[in-house]
Amino acid sequence: MVTVKTAQEIELMRKANQIVRDTLNLLEEKIKPGMTTKQLDKIAHDYITSCDAVPSFLGYSGYPASICVSIDDEVVHGIPSSDRHIEEGQIVSVDIGSIYKGYNGDAARTFAIGRISSEKQRLIDVTRQSFFEGVKILREGVRLGDLGHAIQSYVESNGFSVVRALVGHGIGTDMHEDPEVPNYGKAGHGLRLKANMTIAIEPMVNAGTYDVVMLDDGWTVVTADGKPSAHYENTVAITEDGVEILSL
Ligand code: MF3
Ligand code: CO
Repeated sequence: MVTVKTAQEIELMRKANQIVRDTLNLLEEKIKPGMTTKQLDKIAHDYITSCDAVPSFLGYSGYPASICVSIDDEVVHGIPSSDRHIEEGQIVSVDIGSIYKGYNGDAARTFAIGRISSEKQRLIDVTRQSFFEGVKILREGVRLGDLGHAIQSYVESNGFSVVRALVGHGIGTDMHEDPEVPNYGKAGHGLRLKANMTIAIEPMVNAGTYDVVMLDDGWTVVTADGKPSAHYENTVAITEDGVEILSL
């Protein structure tokens, strides 16, 4: 069921998403070569709980950590580990969720570690910009196919591909609510958005093929061809004349 939120609900989602944004900014400042992904998880967990919020990923369908950290060819849902060290030249996607007074925030960024290749930098930039290409056309009455088409056509015109197997989602009292929000689609098709719907838009963009594979840990999703992938996500509220980005 697709819901519209009240002004009070959106206010709580603003707060939950500001906590997520601040956690991402804290990790961006702290992340350094040599650190383990588990250290990043602890920093995020401690910060979120210090804000009277709950890290929503911890225990979600049995997920064993507070954040997802996905390096290079890992697309999403990389599990933090004390034997995974971050290295210069990598791109690191960090995905974070928090629940504040019952309402969810969800956002992701991809960080560059030191000097990275120009191809990886372009991948990060195109992924982020694809989100904003979607936002440009969004307002009440726009269809989900229009949003997916805007993201997909920008990504493909830059020579990269949009992951199909994973999509964005409605968000509110649950992290994953209806509708599904694909980063690909056909203009003029799909659900028409209404003001005060809240959705997480999260393009996952691969340098090579859009095909992905699940690792044996049951969580980590990697590119099928081993080429790098980037992720950019924000929670937004649809308004009459545009969107409010809650996690920026
Ligand atoms: N934040 C992810 C999403 O955007 C979900 C993380 S999966 C979890 O949908 F299991 F780690 F929670
Ligand atoms: Co999400």
